[in-house]
Amino acid sequence: MNFSLSEEHLMIRDAAREFAQTELLPGVIERDNKQEFPNELVRKMGDLGFMGIMVDPKYGGSGMDAISYVLIMEELSKIDASASVIVSVNNSLVCYGLEAYGTEAQKEKYLTKLATGENIGAFCLSEPEAGSDATSQKTTAIDQGDHYIINGTKNWITSGGRADVFLVIAQTDRDKGSHGINAFIVEKGMEGFHVGPKEDKLGIRGSDTHTLQFNDVKVPKENRIGDDGFGFRFAMKTLSGGRIGIASQALGIAQGAYELALKYSKERKAFGTEICNHQAIAFKLADMYTDITAARHLVMKAAWDKDQGNNYDMSSAMAKLYASKVAMEHTVEAVQIHGGNGFVKEYHVERLMRDAKITQIYEGTSEIQKIVISRSIIRD
Ligand code: CAA
Repeated sequence: MNFSLSEEHLMIRDAAREFAQTELLPGVIERDNKQEFPNELVRKMGDLGFMGIMVDPKYGGSGMDAISYVLIMEELSKIDASASVIVSVNNSLVCYGLEAYGTEAQKEKYLTKLATGENIGAFCLSEPEAGSDATSQKTTAIDQGDHYIINGTKNWITSGGRADVFLVIAQTDRDKGSHGINAFIVEKGMEGFHVGPKEDKLGIRGSDTHTLQFNDVKVPKENRIGDDGFGFRFAMKTLSGGRIGIASQALGIAQGAYELALKYSKERKAFGTEICNHQAIAFKLADMYTDITAARHLVMKAAWDKDQGNNYDMSSAMAKLYASKVAMEHTVEAVQIHGGNGFVKEYHVERLMRDAKITQIYEGTSEIQKIVISRSIIRD
């Protein structure tokens, strides 16, 4: 067992840290206030290889491992969780989904541009009545021989208004349940595809979240991913990797809040001393550091499982469940340590607290992670 990072991993982490500090930090409060998508920053992250971190270089990716992905995600998320969710969805839901299960033609046509950041991807599973219960897809894709016709509505789609490529999950045969679901590649601009209004959100306000409408969208058969009926398993397998991304986002949010709280507690004085010298604050810092370290171990273990070729359904669910809990609890504590200043935007912790909440909801709520974990325990 080896708990240390390699020289290469340290360099990757430092590059992401440098980018987050110099590029993401300066405008992060303004983007949050204005709900502004970081167009230019996404382009820069593409140049750095952050949009296709694990993708094979022959498809334009960086060819890094999942540990590197986690390190980059943590550093970006410490500063700007809106930017990091764009990175996470593009990497682990869209690029991974295409690279692992797409045809060679699909990879050549779509993956290369997604991995370089020239295009942005979105993953369309959730519906008004199919969030946690993902098998209850109402969106239909009717087989018409050489193409499918897609009809339906998708909700809360990350990068929905900005994406160029959409992986859309739809029901092709209701009688077959989860085996009658398929995944399709839909392009922006296909006739009948409409982007609905942007959501006004509590957190990750710089990300672009929309409802999408599909009205008789004609999708060629070669845009179906995998064999007929593979769509639900495609979604589940892809989401297992996505959960490593969101777990590392939660870890970064928690770490970012902790670092701000520690710094503040060493500067702010009350009752004649820096507040970190009061046990009420020192014990909060001890709890934060311990829980964040435990979360990091779970997140790294899930990434390691992926890199080793082990099954990571359960380890990614545990990492997301725990890291998102730690992020929520300790961003609240970071605000508390900051007192009145914690409630003010310029101190950043209130944004991190708002951003933390979504990590307990998207890519499977905490309750869904417990279903995945408990089923694995009972099955094994
Ligand atoms: N790998 C392979 N196959 C899997 C699988 C996996 N990880 N998980 C399930 N399956 C298979 C099952 O084996 C089963 O196959 P058989 O019928 O052959 O046995 C089939 O899929 C159906 O599985 P279940 O019976 O377990 O299905 P279920 O209806 O009980 O649902 C669930 C399982 C885990 C609750 C699932 O519905 C789920 O994960 N829900 C949450 C959905 C989610 O995460 N949504 C997030 C939206 S995406 C998002 O947020 C992106 C964003 O923009 C940030």
